Amino acid sequence: MAPPHGDKSAKVKEEAAAAVSSVDNRPISTILFIVAMQTEALPLVKKFQLTEDLNSVFPKGVPWVRFYGVDGVGTVSASLVTYASVQALQPDLIINAGTAGGFGAKGASIGDVFISSEVAFHDRRIPIPVFDIYGVGSRKALATPNLLKELNLKVGKLSTGDSLDMSPMDEASIIANDATIKDMEGAAVAYVADLLKVPAIFLKAVTDIVDGDKPTPEEFLENLAAVTAALDRTATQVVDYISGKCLLEL
Ligand code: ADE
Repeated sequence: MAPPHGDKSAKVKEEAAAAVSSVDNRPISTILFIVAMQTEALPLVKKFQLTEDLNSVFPKGVPWVRFYGVDGVGTVSASLVTYASVQALQPDLIINAGTAGGFGAKGASIGDVFISSEVAFHDRRIPIPVFDIYGVGSRKALATPNLLKELNLKVGKLSTGDSLDMSPMDEASIIANDATIKDMEGAAVAYVADLLKVPAIFLKAVTDIVDGDKPTPEEFLENLAAVTAALDRTATQVVDYISGKCLLEL
């Protein structure tokens, strides 16, 4: 369960201060997109005319940056690829773009693209003082008030876990996290971004309504193509907006 508001530990406050101090006024020149699924990535690859790096900066044998083969879904893959990419590319900004389940009761609809203000885990239950807060791993995204105003995006908290489904215990944690959307990577990307002091933003497009009546896997697959196209359009607008700006201007 998330700690009650106003009861932030010194560590959480330190983390928030560190996130702010990593924001500087250099122009942004390198953006690292972390995308879990091939289908999610392909529109972006096409849009930005990216080509596959045949001399990959990554260790031999890993499936990252190969546009064929297995997708890297979930927190283990997300944290590894974020770590390796930041080490290799030293980006100014990370954008974790992908799909998410949305809660209709919190205002999410299919095809919405959210920017997440805050991310946390919902399946790391450690009911021991201090470790409980570590398990939830709540982190703030880079604040982007001007970008939000310009693109008129929805804003909501994101909760991350390693399953597409939602157990009753996950649901209780997601409610405690006050999340509007749930995914399988965001909080893991945020963890590594925070460790390596790279600001991160989270762009999540809603493929399924978690509190609706359709089974999640079916609804997800039914909407995946159309929703990733919406994600691609928003990611393009975000990159266009960022272009030539500093972090403090976002
Ligand atoms: N990605 C898309 N839909 C999702 C869901 N319902 N849960 C987790 N990740 C998702």
